[in-house]
Parts: sequence; C-alpha cells; structure tokens
Amino acid sequence: MEGFSQAAENNKAPIFAVLEDWLEPGARVLEVGSGTGQHALHFAASLPGICWQPTERAETLPGLRRNILTYATANVLTPLDLDLATDSWPEDAADCVYAANVLHIVSAELGAKLISGAAQVLVPGGVLILYGPYKYRGQFTTPSNADFDQWLKARDQSSGVRDFEWVCKRAREAGFDFVEDRPMPANNQMLKFRCAL
Ligand SMILES: C[S@@+](CC[C@H](N)C(=O)[O-])C[C@H]1O[C@@H](n2cnc3c(N)ncnc32)[C@H](O)[C@@H]1O
Repeated sequence: MEGFSQAAENNKAPIFAVLEDWLEPGARVLEVGSGTGQHALHFAASLPGICWQPTERAETLPGLRRNILTYATANVLTPLDLDLATDSWPEDAADCVYAANVLHIVSAELGAKLISGAAQVLVPGGVLILYGPYKYRGQFTTPSNADFDQWLKARDQSSGVRDFEWVCKRAREAGFDFVEDRPMPANNQMLKFRCAL
C-alpha cells in the first residue's frame, strides 16, 4: 500500500458501520480527496453492490491509481482527477458524494466548492457525506481538536476545523437538507445531507 495512512486504517471500520446504514444498495459513490484509497478499497470490498469512484488532485493521483490497480475489487473505478480548485467534476450522476477529512485540509473557499459541486453532480435525493472534526458555535468539541486546528493552521493558514453551522449554511444554499450528525470515535463527526432538488 503506497503512502499507507494509519488514521485511515483506524477510522475505516467505524465509518463503514455508518455508511452501511446510509448508502442505498447499488449506490454510485463519488469520493473527493481519496488519498491512498484505503477507504475506497475497504468500503467497496465490504459492499459489493455499490460502485465507488475515487478521485484526487493530479499530484496525488498516480499513487492512488497504483493502489487501486493493485488491491481493488471490480466495483472500484479507475481514480479520476478532481481538484476542488477547478470547477470541473469528472462525473455528473452520483447517488452519494463522500469526503473524509477534506473540509479541514482545504481552504473555506474550496470547502464551499466541495459542497456546491456535490449538489451539481448528485441525482435528486442523492446524499453528501462529510466525515471529520467540526466546531459547534465556534467552540471545539475537545482540547485535542483545538490543538489539531492550530497544527493545521501552522502548516497552512487557510486550512482549519470548520464550523458545523458554516457547513450547514453552505449546504442549505447549495440545495441540501440536513439529515444527520453522527458522533464518531476520536472526536469526529459524520454529517449527512440530502439533495433536495
Ligand atoms: C487528510 S487527507 C484525507 C484522505 C482520505 N480521504 C482519508 O480520510 O484518509 C486530505 C485529502 O484531501 C486532498 N486534497 C487537498 N486539496 C485538494 C483539492 N484542492 N481538491 C481535491 N482534493 C484535495 C489531499 O490530496 C488529501 O488526499
């Protein structure tokens, strides 16, 4: 596994337990910021009826492609180029857009593009699933998330843990209805929005 992520290895089982509940049988999932592909590999192997489309920006795409080529089941598609900085998404008919640990890595501007872009590619009734840490009314849920935010900002001032309310507002503006906020291990959350259009 090229670029193996211990964090992805640790969180894939708890995330899967929720996805299993939230994804419709046969769902076409478009993942934004697939990283090493560990989530794509695990979820697609565990749910053979779904079809998983991993994506990444160009600089990370070659390693992701090699991992998918080496380890994937047939229901994982060849990873495609998706950089949130462009407004070009490689697919236009997904049942689910899934992004784990992306909103706090990219700038708020690109985070907003993730949400509005997802609304463009989802079929009516499709779902947007966002996994990661969030603040609530400007407050971190734990001191460790506050430390994480500082660490993120020291690397890149435009990154940082986003406000749950900010995410909900962007989602509402893009045409989503809020469905659920599921608490996850290690002070993370899993947010689900449904495309109302
Ligand atoms: C913390 S990693 C998360 C990887 C994986 N989703 C996971 O949870 O293990 C953040 C990912 O966001 C991707 N990313 C950063 N900037 C991006 C952009 N402008 N467009 C799309 N993806 C981006 C990175 O390449 C990286 O794979």
